[in-house]
Amino acid sequence: MPVKNVQPLNSAQNCDKALLVSSLLSKMTLQEKIGQMSQFNNDAIKLATSIKNGCVGSVINEVDRDTINKLQRIATQESRLGIPLLIGRDVIHGFNTIFPIPLGQAASWSTEVVETCATIAAIEAANNGVNWTFAPMIDISRDPRWGRIAESLGEDPYLCSALGCAMVKGFQGEKLSDNTSIAACAKHFAGYGASESGRDYNTTNIPENELRNVYLPPFKALADAGVSTFMASFSDLNGVPVTGNSWLLSDILREEWQYTGMVVSDWESIPQLITHGFCIDRESAAFEACRAGIDMEMASNTYAVNLPSLIKNEQVNPDQLDMMVTRILNLKFDLGLFETSYTESTSTLERLNSFHLDAAKKAATKSCVLLKNNKKILPLSKTQITSLAVIGPLADDGYEQLGTWVFDAKPNQSITCLNAIKDYVGDSVEVKFSKGLTTSRSNNQAGFPEATQLAASADIAVLILGEEAILSGEAHCRSNINLPGCQEQLINAVHQTGTPIVLVIMAGRPITLEKILSKVDAVLFAWHPGTMGGPAITELLFGEECPSGKLPVTFPRTLGQIPLYYNQKNTGRPPSDATFVDISDIKVRAAQTSLGMTSTHLDTHFSPLFPFGFGLSYTKFEYKDIHINRRVITMGDRLKITAIICNIGHYDAEEVVQLYIRDLIGSVTRPVKELKGFQRIYIPAGQSQQVVFEIHTDELAFYNRQMKLKTEPGLFNAWIGSNSNTKLKTEFEIVLRQDELLT
Ligand code: NOJ
Repeated sequence: MPVKNVQPLNSAQNCDKALLVSSLLSKMTLQEKIGQMSQFNNDAIKLATSIKNGCVGSVINEVDRDTINKLQRIATQESRLGIPLLIGRDVIHGFNTIFPIPLGQAASWSTEVVETCATIAAIEAANNGVNWTFAPMIDISRDPRWGRIAESLGEDPYLCSALGCAMVKGFQGEKLSDNTSIAACAKHFAGYGASESGRDYNTTNIPENELRNVYLPPFKALADAGVSTFMASFSDLNGVPVTGNSWLLSDILREEWQYTGMVVSDWESIPQLITHGFCIDRESAAFEACRAGIDMEMASNTYAVNLPSLIKNEQVNPDQLDMMVTRILNLKFDLGLFETSYTESTSTLERLNSFHLDAAKKAATKSCVLLKNNKKILPLSKTQITSLAVIGPLADDGYEQLGTWVFDAKPNQSITCLNAIKDYVGDSVEVKFSKGLTTSRSNNQAGFPEATQLAASADIAVLILGEEAILSGEAHCRSNINLPGCQEQLINAVHQTGTPIVLVIMAGRPITLEKILSKVDAVLFAWHPGTMGGPAITELLFGEECPSGKLPVTFPRTLGQIPLYYNQKNTGRPPSDATFVDISDIKVRAAQTSLGMTSTHLDTHFSPLFPFGFGLSYTKFEYKDIHINRRVITMGDRLKITAIICNIGHYDAEEVVQLYIRDLIGSVTRPVKELKGFQRIYIPAGQSQQVVFEIHTDELAFYNRQMKLKTEPGLFNAWIGSNSNTKLKTEFEIVLRQDELLT
């Protein structure tokens, strides 16, 4: 996995840091220490006095550079000890230049793309005075109803870890103290994505073994990669809200993982311990959060008000408090804030410069996933069509294509699909536009006649549908994940005209598409693609670029299949085509007792509509000759698995080659497939390439019944393919070393 640590301080610097921090600590009053542990929202006027009095460690959501400089000046020059501020902001998928939503970036399966997006976001944010982002969100997300799936990197621990590390590397740069780097935050520790029924903030119940094998690995990977901070989840984990969960925040994070960075609460999550029914009042909430290991409180003043008496009454140990403050000061030191906390007003960076925009276009291009391409309707050719009907509420909306979590972008700087298509085809194709619906949620069909008329008179109808930005993101969950409003009816109406349909979907989550799939000829899933979504989609539609995105999350056929993920357990009665009985095949009133008797639904097929890792190309890749260098390997050894990938189509193209394994027998049952490697490669038409994956037996370890991370000997399957449904398989066996056999 491409994990690179943030440049560690050399020992001299470390020594300086330790000296500076301990000397500061020795001078700090209790109020100043608690001040460092408190982050407040951006009321600059109120904050000024508190900052001067040493009562603020961090400010969230202030993005006016002059105001930030002013606050930093008060902190460093007018407060007694001159400690600079952490300036936090949700820089999630861009600052001014907006990249695809994180779930879209994950569909690129490219650490390079994800790192570049974060690097540029950091440059723009840091240029504005922001020095800390609350990203990446690395919650494993198996429920597309959950609005925050948009902010996630998908359903798989391996992919999420690799891309999460790349994002941290992008934000934090080579050195955190560079003026283009900002601190990253691994959130939301942990299990938040398992919120019941996809309702945000809801209860999570995750058995420890599943927690350790599925939800925690990305956090461990980011801790090892040097992420500066962690954020505790809002949610209740197995009955103990994470904000007060010392098993998770101390036993696992600090003792087991030896993580030394700082932990921040989520927004007002300390007083919410009362609402959870976990604490009786704010004082006990402050006590529980502090005991669990929350170093800094976000947005509320529970620490500021209650920690003084908790220390006085000896309920909170002053040494523990010092340790927490030390972690906060360490971060400020690492960010170079003691040297300079001002953002030079002369260092005006031209935001949205061509380099940033090109990167945004490239990211959007690689994120789009081609789900269907009947009779190769795509790519379109501007010399072969004379008229195009562009239809849909998302075709020309610079705001909606940006997606969730965009505070600092200007929608009028987005290039929409309509504008990009017009620009691309020029005078050679007549482009007619109709919204069809006023919004993606609209149920008013008044615009249908105009839309269908345009479609009827065009060679091709390009429908640009999906979800508005507001339908995904924090607290924006849905109980249905179909195309909202009457968009399905719009597709049906256009289908009636007989004009071929190319459907482009912008959305913050997987959408159930089974009902309309047969009505359209092609589907390009573009997520919320960001500022440069229009040009990226246009170049894909017209074949200037070849689609190469792959799903980072399973697309179910129906809502009732959720949760549906590829790395499921086999069960004792797995479904198969041989045993599957469809509801329409059940005989009326027959004394039919056996309906397959397997783990499936009667009213939908057991397979997903599109599996994890799926994505078509304009070319065709053939996978063959899977080969393993040794059938039997000894514990502690490496293994090489190779395959040949041939581009047998007519387009030069990139392909994401995926390696899956299955541990056939485990002391704890193992998933039917697990991603263990991926490579994005470029193969010109007509050429072949051998792809080599190397795996160490340690990479096949899992938490066993004793909650120990161990690789178990035995038989394994391995597949190399273009998605998780691949059939190209080999097998190998791991045997114990001689000395292990003797013990
Ligand atoms: C609440 C969200 O859960 C968290 O992810 C975000 O960073 C904070 N609010 C700050 O906006």
